[in-house]
Amino acid sequence: MHVTRLAEARTVLTDTRYVPAPVPQDGREGTLAWLRGQVSRFSTGDTHARRRRAVVERLAAIDPAGLRSAARAMTVERGGTWRGVPAQVLGAALGVKDTTAVPAAASGYLTGEAGPEADAAVAALLDQADLPAVTLLLQAHAATEGLIENALTHVTWDSGRPSAQRLSAAPRSARTGIDVEALLHETLRHDPPLKATRRLDTRTGDEVTIDLVAANRDPDVFPDPDRFDPTRGPAPHVTFGHGVRPCPAPGHALALAAGVLEGLL
Ligand code: HEM
Repeated sequence: MHVTRLAEARTVLTDTRYVPAPVPQDGREGTLAWLRGQVSRFSTGDTHARRRRAVVERLAAIDPAGLRSAARAMTVERGGTWRGVPAQVLGAALGVKDTTAVPAAASGYLTGEAGPEADAAVAALLDQADLPAVTLLLQAHAATEGLIENALTHVTWDSGRPSAQRLSAAPRSARTGIDVEALLHETLRHDPPLKATRRLDTRTGDEVTIDLVAANRDPDVFPDPDRFDPTRGPAPHVTFGHGVRPCPAPGHALALAAGVLEGLL
């Protein structure tokens, strides 16, 4: 089943009879396969609830405003080389000093495609932090960088200076000329970094694909859905999931992305 309408997407994501496909539980301790067997993202029921509580608790101790200013400062300090900034800033908040292993560990996190490099990267992170902290870093990495990358496609650069032509209708901040919040909110709806999420129907065994791009452009909910319009304001999109297991960190994700964009723009 392929879900493309917003209401149906929300219904499936709220119904506990739809679960993430189980992942192998026999990975050697400390490898990526093992880690996938330990995290909330791929678990269900009470196990999911318990593991989710652990990451939510860890997130509660991190102030999004602090992430934003640290991401802005680091982006400026690096002269605009922003890749790796979200992971490094979040890592610092979680007590992980060296986040260079994050991209390699994160690359197979969702797909399960692991190799010696990913396993070594997971080991390097587990040497520095416990499982909830490593989970947060791996969940955050690709989605947050994807959001920044997608937002930047809506900014045009005029002789090295950012220009907000396509955001002309949006309220602007005096300093940058671009309203970073408006840019991010509409980017989340229009270009979600995670295009789809999948569930297994426990009654039939069928796979269900929730098409987040299509649901976010449901013509019954969003007028002129394909148009990128930062004046819409926060929209009821499903980019951060919904229901039983939505992303627990939308505020942290937005803060990291906003900080990087402020540093760039
Ligand atoms: C723009 C950036 C982000 C997007 C679009 C995003 C999106 C999502 C989505 C859609 C899910 C649910 C997946 C499902 O259907 O099961 C999810 C789960 C999760 N996200 Fe995010 N995320 C982002 C950034 C972050 C960040 C920065 C963190 C951590 C600081 C984070 C931590 C998590 C965790 C721990 C889960 C698993 C929750 C659970 O198992 O109950 N995410 N995210």
